[in-house]
Amino acid sequence: AAFYALVPAAGSGARMGGEKPKQYLPLAGRPLIWHGLRALCGVARISRVFVVLSPHDADWVAHDWSTFGTKLMPLFCGGATRADSVLNGLRATADQVRAEDWMLVHDAARPCLTSAQVDSLIDTVCRDSPGDGGILALPVADTLKRADEHAAIATIAATVPRSGLWQAQTPQMFRHGDLLRALASGKDAQAIEAITDEASAMEMLGFRPCLVKSDPGNLKVTYPSDQRLAEWILQQRGE
Ligand code: CTP
Ligand code: MG
Repeated sequence: AAFYALVPAAGSGARMGGEKPKQYLPLAGRPLIWHGLRALCGVARISRVFVVLSPHDADWVAHDWSTFGTKLMPLFCGGATRADSVLNGLRATADQVRAEDWMLVHDAARPCLTSAQVDSLIDTVCRDSPGDGGILALPVADTLKRADEHAAIATIAATVPRSGLWQAQTPQMFRHGDLLRALASGKDAQAIEAITDEASAMEMLGFRPCLVKSDPGNLKVTYPSDQRLAEWILQQRGE
């Protein structure tokens, strides 16, 4: 089976509050999305990296992507939600990707991914979980509190044991055909709401994706403070 990457990048970055979508905000001298694309394109086994952009995207063409050559392919088929964007991207690539090929779905908003992390995900999934796929994730380090929903102020109702809890990251790696079926099968609004990543859609169909240990450096840029931290991480690596 071949390996492909799919990068949803059709969001508006509302929580970041920038003057353009966060994937295009400057980060270490490049648009933010550039760094994750470089990590994915740098993995020799990945044949092509598809980027799912909004049909109204006006920023993509303003940048130079030539360093990635024909390995990079933009698709202007983004949808209303992240899951819609991924589903549209899977449908748009169904003529070039076989059902048994692997799709590595990676948020444009995670710029500090390294090619070594991608290689570790691919190696582990192919060895341990070739039927179910897997994701990069991080064991939870903080003590977790559940808030009392009925209290007037935020009050602790319980301490949630953190043992066995992991934070999901991306890339998330599944067979193209399985993932297409999983994301297309959200039956009711409740099921669709519960699909917050690719793995959750796969779990609903009974798949048991494996967790591949990542590190905190692969953070998601959501707020301006995350952008500053991501920039610092890239600069430490000399990028
Ligand atoms: N995304 C997408 N299509 C959407 C919404 C999100 O492709 N309709 C992508 C984003 O571009 C991002 C990734 O999904 O790379 C993770 O989403 P998130 O961090 O929530 O980004 P935004 O939705 O852009 O940010 P916000 O929720 O703050 O508006
Ligand atoms: Mg969002």
